[in-house]
Amino acid sequence: MKILITGGAGYIGSHVVKQLLELSSCEVTVLDNLSTGNKATINTLEKIRDFNFLQLDLKEFDKINQFLTEEKFDAIIHFAAYSIVSESMQNPLKYYLNNTVNTTNLIECAIKSGVKKFIFSSTAAVYGDVQENVNIKETFATNPINPYGMSKLMSEKILQDASKNFPDFKYVIFRYFNVSGADMYFDKDNLCPRIGENHNPETHLIPLVVKTALGKRDLLNIYGDDFKTPDGSCIRDYIHVEDLANAHIEAINYLEENKSDIFNLGYSKGYSVKQIVNAVKDVIKIDFKTTIVDRRAGDTAFLVADNSKVVSTMKWKPKFDNLELICKSAYEWEKTI
Ligand code: UFG
Repeated sequence: MKILITGGAGYIGSHVVKQLLELSSCEVTVLDNLSTGNKATINTLEKIRDFNFLQLDLKEFDKINQFLTEEKFDAIIHFAAYSIVSESMQNPLKYYLNNTVNTTNLIECAIKSGVKKFIFSSTAAVYGDVQENVNIKETFATNPINPYGMSKLMSEKILQDASKNFPDFKYVIFRYFNVSGADMYFDKDNLCPRIGENHNPETHLIPLVVKTALGKRDLLNIYGDDFKTPDGSCIRDYIHVEDLANAHIEAINYLEENKSDIFNLGYSKGYSVKQIVNAVKDVIKIDFKTTIVDRRAGDTAFLVADNSKVVSTMKWKPKFDNLELICKSAYEWEKTI
């Protein structure tokens, strides 16, 4: 099978590429503009086994069309996107252009070139503010409260409509909750992640907590402690990137059965910001300073998955549903960058 992975040099995409290289015999091609992904990640992945890498931006419509027409992929896993909620509040059009417009073109080129399987990375941000603090099912209403979530929701709808129009074109939409942790690679008995999260600027909680613990930052801002949650800080469902990546491998098998659907990807478990801070302190035994600051624009109080659909429908069995392992792998990775 020939698979194209857009955004394969990025944090989540690279973990899926790694698993495809290690666990499958697929012919893998990564397409990435290297705006947030990086070449060092590609070089690391090339040590696992050979694959093709093309540096190209999805906004190059003609080149994308020509490339897909020539290569005739069987499947596409589409990660390439911007993903910072706060940035999307300040610059919404950047998000709609890249995440929605470029995705629409990719879908059209995919269908025209005979691609039958499409896996799309969407986000829990499509749900918006859930009124009560309950685990979210895929059937819940979608009401994004930031352009990032809306840009992904629009792409979901476009993908669904395209599939209705071209019934051979099947999709899996994954709505990710808070992806975290790093490559669970062991050298002898030591956890030594080869790839991991490396955004610039970094906005995500766990890498920021770990950077603070390592003295790379002075203190950790906690964005608000007056939310309607038990300790007042926001609650999220933190899923290990290895488990999340593995669901994409299962999705390829699911698509072989000529079906399409939407699945949440999380552990169905929530932790508050304050609990994450304490977990990192416990795991790495380093104390550091935190301070409560104003809420961050676009943040919702509670985002936790109900993952029963993906668990019962696919053969997906999470292996790293363990906050300690998430923090430990993030920490070991952070030490290397
Ligand atoms: N937070 C802090 N301090 C920080 C950074 C984050 O208190 O320095 C808080 C945030 O306010 C939020 C929580 O930690 O309450 C998690 O924030 P992240 O930035 O790590 O993640 P988000 O929940 O904002 O967003 C992430 C992805 C989105 C996805 C969402 C789904 O970036 O793409 O998870 O839950 F939509």
